[in-house]
Amino acid sequence: MADNPTAAAPASPYTRTNPFPGKLVVNRSLCGEGSDKDTRHFEIDLKGWGLNYEVGDSMTVWPMNDPALVEEIIKTIGAKGDEQVTGPKGPTTLREALLRDCRITQTTPKFLKAIAERASAAPLLNELLDPSRKEDLDRYLWGMEVIDFLIEHPSIKFAPQELVDLLAKLQPRLYSISSSLKAHPEQVHFTIDVVHYESHGRMRKGVCSSFLAERAENVPIPVFPNTSKFRLPEDGNTPIIMVGPGTGVAPFRAYLQERKAVGAKGRNWLFFGSQKASCNYFYKEELDQMKKDGLLTRLDCAWSRDQEKKIYVQNHMLDNGAEIWKWLDGEGAHFFVCGDARRMAKDVDAALRKIMQNQGGKTLDEANAYVEKLKSDKRYKRDVY
Ligand SMILES: Cc1cc2nc3c(=O)[nH]c(=O)nc-3n(C[C@H](O)[C@H](O)[C@H](O)COP(=O)(O)OP(=O)(O)OC[C@H]3O[C@@H](n4cnc5c(N)ncnc54)[C@H](O)[C@@H]3O)c2cc1C
Ligand SMILES: NC(=O)c1ccc[n+]([C@@H]2O[C@H](COP(=O)([O-])OP(=O)(O)OC[C@H]3O[C@@H](n4cnc5c(N)ncnc54)[C@H](OP(=O)(O)O)[C@@H]3O)[C@@H](O)[C@H]2O)c1
Repeated sequence: MADNPTAAAPASPYTRTNPFPGKLVVNRSLCGEGSDKDTRHFEIDLKGWGLNYEVGDSMTVWPMNDPALVEEIIKTIGAKGDEQVTGPKGPTTLREALLRDCRITQTTPKFLKAIAERASAAPLLNELLDPSRKEDLDRYLWGMEVIDFLIEHPSIKFAPQELVDLLAKLQPRLYSISSSLKAHPEQVHFTIDVVHYESHGRMRKGVCSSFLAERAENVPIPVFPNTSKFRLPEDGNTPIIMVGPGTGVAPFRAYLQERKAVGAKGRNWLFFGSQKASCNYFYKEELDQMKKDGLLTRLDCAWSRDQEKKIYVQNHMLDNGAEIWKWLDGEGAHFFVCGDARRMAKDVDAALRKIMQNQGGKTLDEANAYVEKLKSDKRYKRDVY
């Protein structure tokens, strides 16, 4: 009997809390020799899901903690690891709770309080736990993890259940999707800066970025898409300006793949920024090819550390202010920004307002009103973190 075309597709069994077990198929460095950064390209196979996501969406990834750190914590509290505990996700062993369910790097207020109450010599911590000292406490905790307190106070012996009760639940991380399903069916790609740093004499690793970079080869990677409003204009003829330094380039790789796959005629302008052209030019070959093919109408790169004075994406924007204004005001371009929220997105926003004043002859108030109008028309979109 023929399928009934009007019958609803079976509901996907996967949800945010029951994520799909993806399989890591590519993990390659985007950096060359001499790089201070460890930014990587990941490809995850999603076969068997029938999944749908749109370019501009991000993906939720549930990491597993570093087993070496888990074993160190177990040893430091004098446990074996196979003790039964009830973790944030239910009954399990201490080892499993520390691997999958608990946040074992950052401390919690109740963990710090327990340390302060039991330590024979923690007067500073006691003082800093006073609510009036919140900022000092945050400064003190910068770069400090649970293991540091356990090692510093060997006389404190937490029972396995007690330790688990003092920790928070391990949270998933979000990553911008850097691929289009039309170019890479049943896959999702990410562009991730792997977090490593040294503090208090120890090497530290970001939980999720190091999980993907170092420990995800033969284990399922729990993923689920997170819908976003960071979407391409519906009309493929609309020109777009994309500002994506560092990992901020991720969704724009996906946009460009999508526009190529659907044959969109709109012009595409990318501002990319990174430390050094020689070793931090992420996706150089792909971008060069897109430029050659005419998909990428313009590509402007800002190398911040190739000369004494920093050059950032907003410097190139200001140098090309007349052309940006023509695209925006004359041709109805949409303006997108992705990446660092703390500094970059603010400076790019300021540069945009400057261009409106310098090239559009607007006062600051008029430029501010113009930006508000762009936002309400959904022509100025940011995905910053
Ligand atoms: C919508 C959205 C999209 C995102 N997209 C991307 C993306 O495409 N690519 C990407 O790489 N990231 C992206 N992120 C960030 C990502 O979700 C994670 O926050 C990031 O990968 C760090 O997670 P982690 O588990 O590896 O590190 P964590 O274990 O969370 O550690 C990071 C923490 O370590 C501490 N830390 C870091 N450096 C130092 C230091 N030098 N000294 C002391 N402490 C330090 C800080 O407290 C920092 O918050 C996105 C975030 C959002 C919200
Ligand atoms: N929420 C998160 O967990 C998360 C995740 C990823 C990134 N981030 C934040 O985003 C930052 C960027 O990380 P990334 O690896 O994607 O990029 P990145 O490599 O640190 O930065 C990309 C480029 O942007 C430059 N830059 C620095 N300040 C800028 C500014 N004010 N305006 C414009 N460009 C600027 C950098 O220059 P210089 O470095 O030479 O100054 C570099 O050339 C991280 O440092 C972090 O703060 C946060």
